[in-house]
Amino acid sequence: MDIFRIEGPVRLDGVIDISGAKNAVLPIMAATILAPGKSVIKNVPRLADISVFGELLSNLGANVEGINNGNLHIDSTTIDNPVGRYEILRKMRAGICILGPLLARCRKAKVSMPGGCAIGDRPVDIHLRGLTALGADIHLENGYIIAQARNGLKGNNIFLGGPFGSTVLGTANVLMAAVLAKGKTVIESAACEPEISDLANCLNKMGANISGIGSPRLVIEGVNQLNPVEYQVIGDRIEAGTFMAAAAITSGRLQLRNCRLDNMAAVIDRLTNIGVKIEPTDNGCLVTHTGPLKPADITTQPYPGFPTDLQAQLMALLALADGNSVVTEKIFPDRFMHVAELNRMAARLRKEGPNVIVTGGKKLIGAPVMASYLRASAALLLAGLAAHGTTIISRVYHIDRGYENIEKKLNSVGAKITRQKV
Ligand code: EPU
Repeated sequence: MDIFRIEGPVRLDGVIDISGAKNAVLPIMAATILAPGKSVIKNVPRLADISVFGELLSNLGANVEGINNGNLHIDSTTIDNPVGRYEILRKMRAGICILGPLLARCRKAKVSMPGGCAIGDRPVDIHLRGLTALGADIHLENGYIIAQARNGLKGNNIFLGGPFGSTVLGTANVLMAAVLAKGKTVIESAACEPEISDLANCLNKMGANISGIGSPRLVIEGVNQLNPVEYQVIGDRIEAGTFMAAAAITSGRLQLRNCRLDNMAAVIDRLTNIGVKIEPTDNGCLVTHTGPLKPADITTQPYPGFPTDLQAQLMALLALADGNSVVTEKIFPDRFMHVAELNRMAARLRKEGPNVIVTGGKKLIGAPVMASYLRASAALLLAGLAAHGTTIISRVYHIDRGYENIEKKLNSVGAKITRQKV
């Protein structure tokens, strides 16, 4: 198992290239199931989750090549084993989004119920409700979802809202099933996240007929077949937001390339309130920060609200602000595993239900800490850049799931991070 040893504090200064969005690539990989033939996905980051998803598609019968120059080639001419195994789904919940495409292509699927997860229960009831509305017959057997659509799928009006808003992967699943269903489907309360819009744009390039992209009402006219595609995914807004926080927490200056600011309005709003300067450039932005950080309240919400995937990283930043902040989690109310670890680094965070009261302070102090999930690891890494002394993060495999070459990128702009095997 690898650990990170981080020496701090440092000031970051330089240029970082943002990678393609993991959460856009994963459902688009699933979409290749819908179109027999060779597809190429471009701007794909080298990440553990992408490899695991590749393994999942290979098990179905597809031929998945390694990533070459950011290009991922998937040949889905053969899909003859529509089974998503527990051994893979328990590692990566995103695997659930093969269910919709398999139903559309094979009219049947057997996909493991995903296991528990460090950030909350993460049920899939809304996915199943949506697919059932399209005519799938679904039941559970030995931990597996057994789904069949003997006579094919049929368009319907479907509401995908739940207790915490819509569902991102649920929308992906139902959308991918609906594109090949007979007739018209209307999805109300669809997730509006940019990664879902990217998936929908990719599906349209494959020959689907989806309108309302980016809105909570998607209208899909079913088509008879889709074609393989060459598609370039969007940059990763969560990686970009993490590096914006890195510039801020180190009172540094980072130019971020290959990212879009138009899908980061809520993040830019909060960072600007904290006192960070974000200026647009040709293909990204320049992030600078000097002087004290100001406190700010943050509430996570579905897009276009502030993303839950940046809650932990901004909390690390607010731990150094000049005053008190309140961070409220409205998507995954238990997503606070980083709180106790940040407190080990002398942060002053107090959890009260879905809120964390952050008492700002002047200093973080290096400590051995443990990564519990992907974004918590990023928060600890940010804290380590600013903390005085040595921070050692164990279980960094969590960070490798979602950040491509993170220590190389940060070291190239002045961080002192070494990866060690233990
Ligand atoms: N929910 C239900 N029933 C469902 C589905 C979801 O109650 O059937 C609830 C969830 O428990 C949660 C809320 O709805 O409270 C939103 O969950 P959602 O389904 O939108 O999450 P997801 O699709 O499983 C994706 C991202 C997550 C990101 C969330 C929210 C991918 C691969 N994963 O998960 O990303 O946090 O949307 O934006 O796209 C990450 O990258 O670190 C990550 C966890």
